[in-house]
Amino acid sequence: MVNQHFLELQGSYLFSEIAKRRSKYMEQHPDANVISLGIGDVTRGLPQAVIEAMHQAVDDMVNPSSFRGYGPEQGYSFLVDAIITGDYHRRGIELSNDEVFVSDGSKCDVGNIQEIFSQDSIVAVQDPVYPVYVDTNVMAGRAGGFDTALGRYKNIVYLDCSADNDFKPALPTERVDLIYLCYPNNPTGMTLTKDELKVWVDYAIENDCLILFDSAYEAFITEEDVPHSIYEIEGARQVAIEFRSFSKTAGFTGMRCAYTVVPKELRGRASGDNLVSINELWNRRHTTKFNGVSYVTQKGAAAIYTPEGQAQTKELIEYYMANAAMIRDGLQEVGFTVYGGVNAPYIWLKTPNNMSSWDFFDFLLKEANIVGTPGVGFGTCGDGYFRLTSFGSRENTEQAIARIKKLSF
Ligand code: MLT
Repeated sequence: MVNQHFLELQGSYLFSEIAKRRSKYMEQHPDANVISLGIGDVTRGLPQAVIEAMHQAVDDMVNPSSFRGYGPEQGYSFLVDAIITGDYHRRGIELSNDEVFVSDGSKCDVGNIQEIFSQDSIVAVQDPVYPVYVDTNVMAGRAGGFDTALGRYKNIVYLDCSADNDFKPALPTERVDLIYLCYPNNPTGMTLTKDELKVWVDYAIENDCLILFDSAYEAFITEEDVPHSIYEIEGARQVAIEFRSFSKTAGFTGMRCAYTVVPKELRGRASGDNLVSINELWNRRHTTKFNGVSYVTQKGAAAIYTPEGQAQTKELIEYYMANAAMIRDGLQEVGFTVYGGVNAPYIWLKTPNNMSSWDFFDFLLKEANIVGTPGVGFGTCGDGYFRLTSFGSRENTEQAIARIKKLSF
């Protein structure tokens, strides 16, 4: 017997579907110069400091005295220490080494984390939402089937985000156990202020639930009052797990390296109302199912925290954020309503003439040879919206905006 819950999944994974449609179009139009601003995949090379560190690490692997076999599953201390100092201490946040778990990507971590919670846990997600949070809970049997009329899984609690609430959801009105939050948000590019995030932390403390905080895009924050880490909020160590990634920050989408912070204060309820350490459960899961990120990759990631690495990473981010500004301004000039793109590499736009997201996808592909991401792929609240990424090259971004400006709607 197969895991029956996989059969509850709707369609294929969003970005695979987009890639399939793009390939089909290119087969039919081999001369089309298609520009991809769909999946948030980086296009600039790795920072020089990272490359140099990895070359050195390859040499280490040749020499028997510095050769590394299996490393610690949680990550080498040279990287964990750099993370703690570079990302947390400098913001006044205390973490210890055994609260950080280095992994091969936030997609895996946000997908795997649900394994340590009971099958009857009630999961809340924002809508629109990064589909991995939902799909992995469906696979685990927490969805209760799909309601075709509503276009939603029956047992998942959806927190609606729309232009009316500035894409910031209200607190759940029913009992939930796990809340996935992503800020800066994928796909809308919107953020919460510290006070707004505090409301969620206080809610989680009062209601005995856990926040799974995806902070993969924190490096793109440009505004002052936007928290980079949920642990900037008092009390968050009792109720939040944080996911961070080097993918977008330093061009690591093809390298694979990320980390998850699981504070030791976090407790989950076990049978008999015993409280158990979430950190210990995650550690057990991680060490059983994962053998660590390669030494060479971790050396590369640690180089991000050197002064050269920091300067080069900053340059990369500024490059992409200049693209974001160009997309935002260009779209606004021709009358689009746009969100995001200020503290995030994503621009979320309202489709013209209330076109459905997929109709706009087909229209843009056919008329301008541009691939984006249909908002509805992130949830029903995303219908009528569309996401463009700023991760393209400058030239492609300029060209894409020029093409859009020429369209008539
Ligand atoms: C996205 O486009 O939403 C992201 O690239 C997907 C991911 O990080 O897995």
